[in-house]
Amino acid sequence: MKRKKQPKQTIKIGSGSLIVVLLVLLVVFLLIGERQWFQSSSSQTYNSSKVVKRVNVTRLNEEYQTVDDILQWICMKVKSKELKIVDLTNWGPSSLVILHKLEQLQRIQGCPTIPVVTIDTLHLFPESYTFLESKKKIMGQNLLIVKPKKYETAKGFDNHYGINLAVEHPQQYAYWSKVEPMYRAFNALKADAWITGRRRSQGGERTNLQAFELDSNNNKNKNNKIKRLKINPLVDWTYEQVWEYIRDNDIPYNPLYDQGYKSLGDVRTTNKVDEQENERAGRFQGMNQTECGIHNLAMLSSSAEEEMKPIEVQTYMELARDTLDRVVLNEETNQYRNGRDNVFVVFYHPQCGHCQRFEPAFFQLANEMYEAPESALLHKTIATRFNIGRYHTPNAKLKAVGMEVQGTPAIFLVKHKPTRHAVEYKGPRNRLPILLWLRKELGGKDEHDGEELSRKNSTSTTDEQDDQDFQKKTKHKHR
Ligand SMILES: *[C@@H]1O[C@H](CO)[C@@H](O)[C@H](O)[C@H]1NC(C)=O
Ligand SMILES: *[C@@H]1O[C@H](CO)[C@@H](O)[C@H](O)[C@H]1NC(C)=O
Ligand SMILES: *[C@@H]1O[C@H](CO)[C@@H](O)[C@H](O)[C@H]1NC(C)=O
Ligand SMILES: *[C@@H]1O[C@H](CO)[C@@H](O)[C@H](O)[C@H]1NC(C)=O
Repeated sequence: MKRKKQPKQTIKIGSGSLIVVLLVLLVVFLLIGERQWFQSSSSQTYNSSKVVKRVNVTRLNEEYQTVDDILQWICMKVKSKELKIVDLTNWGPSSLVILHKLEQLQRIQGCPTIPVVTIDTLHLFPESYTFLESKKKIMGQNLLIVKPKKYETAKGFDNHYGINLAVEHPQQYAYWSKVEPMYRAFNALKADAWITGRRRSQGGERTNLQAFELDSNNNKNKNNKIKRLKINPLVDWTYEQVWEYIRDNDIPYNPLYDQGYKSLGDVRTTNKVDEQENERAGRFQGMNQTECGIHNLAMLSSSAEEEMKPIEVQTYMELARDTLDRVVLNEETNQYRNGRDNVFVVFYHPQCGHCQRFEPAFFQLANEMYEAPESALLHKTIATRFNIGRYHTPNAKLKAVGMEVQGTPAIFLVKHKPTRHAVEYKGPRNRLPILLWLRKELGGKDEHDGEELSRKNSTSTTDEQDDQDFQKKTKHKHR
């Protein structure tokens, strides 16, 4: 960020008005600075290699082993202005412990305030957004919330990258939703080091974690060769210790932790876990992945930014265990349904022949619902697919709304307005009969849509023709 010195222009004014002019200029500069901050790209780098080079990580790991010693070291470096350190928080239990301890240091020892960075991936749980709001109120300017470049809403992001990016292309998703925003924030804050809440007891890649590490991740991005220090003060703590600290100190936390979640991330990649399961077992299930990308960019190839091209938009959602509940059953918000009120749900099993034969028709229907609606009613529907071979079978909550899967593919329509209820389709598994069924089910709620339907009714023979043509085409393709 370049804040150039202001050329001296006005001299013949009194010192009072000069001060006013300077104050106005200062405010203007701060405003511009703030705007630029959000737009600054990760190629605007701050070279902290030199500072960090003087740090001997091996020695630090020998000398500083307890959380309080590590935080004292942080405090010392910040006080002497030797290092600019920021705290990265995801509001998980470990992050909350660190924040609490940092606040204590500030209050009791006069340790300078450490900027706190959090990433809003745009795909968090509603409870997480509520929690974030409460923190925003308390922390004010010291909290920097960073979002994916160019997008302010999940819908905007999903329309660009596809609604399944998180599950189908987890690395690209991690890059655009977390890694890029995070380094953009670090660059803007000129951070030499960042604090994380990672612990060895979280297992997986974290088993051999050290308190101090060099973050070599962004060496892989040729635009961003900054080497930062990564500090993990809670490296030795267990899950139980963390929660004991939170309870002992009455630290407010996200209520989802009382509802079966042990580690929270994005809606699409977070599942509940059983009491005895590892705390991160609920993350990235079925995705051959345990880290979100922030801490394991090895999976990204070099010069990530250029290679991470947008992915072709998929017009249906692949659902996971808990996501099914959220997307299908959540009445309060349609944010997980890409703004749609109705959900077309197909339960399938990849090895089932009927399911395989139904695929072309499903994709066609999904496209029609997504982008080129034959009626405004269809446009209010989102197509979803749930692989019951890969996850657990649907749960009691689904049964309660009348969704019981007796064979595959099982086809349902779940309506949310005026009240939620599910209807099962039992006819032939071809596009046209399903389309007509959908229209019938969806019709009559919206006057305008009703008119459109009756107009469309007369064209049903062409639809039939289309359908046959389509089936011929797909048959052809499979030969
Ligand atoms: C950062 O500093 C190092 C060492 O002085 C130098 O080799 C490197 O080119 C610099 N990087 C940038 C992006 O300026
Ligand atoms: C870093 O510290 C370790 C352990 O104290 C020491 O053996 C090593 O020589 C040091 N490295 C440098 C480059 O000073
Ligand atoms: C899982 O990921 C690893 C490393 O990224 C890769 O070598 C392996 O082939 C993947 N396995 C599957 C089943 O995709
Ligand atoms: C649509 O056409 C069918 C038969 O082709 C007819 O039974 C039905 O009443 C028509 N619906 C509307 C809304 O015009």
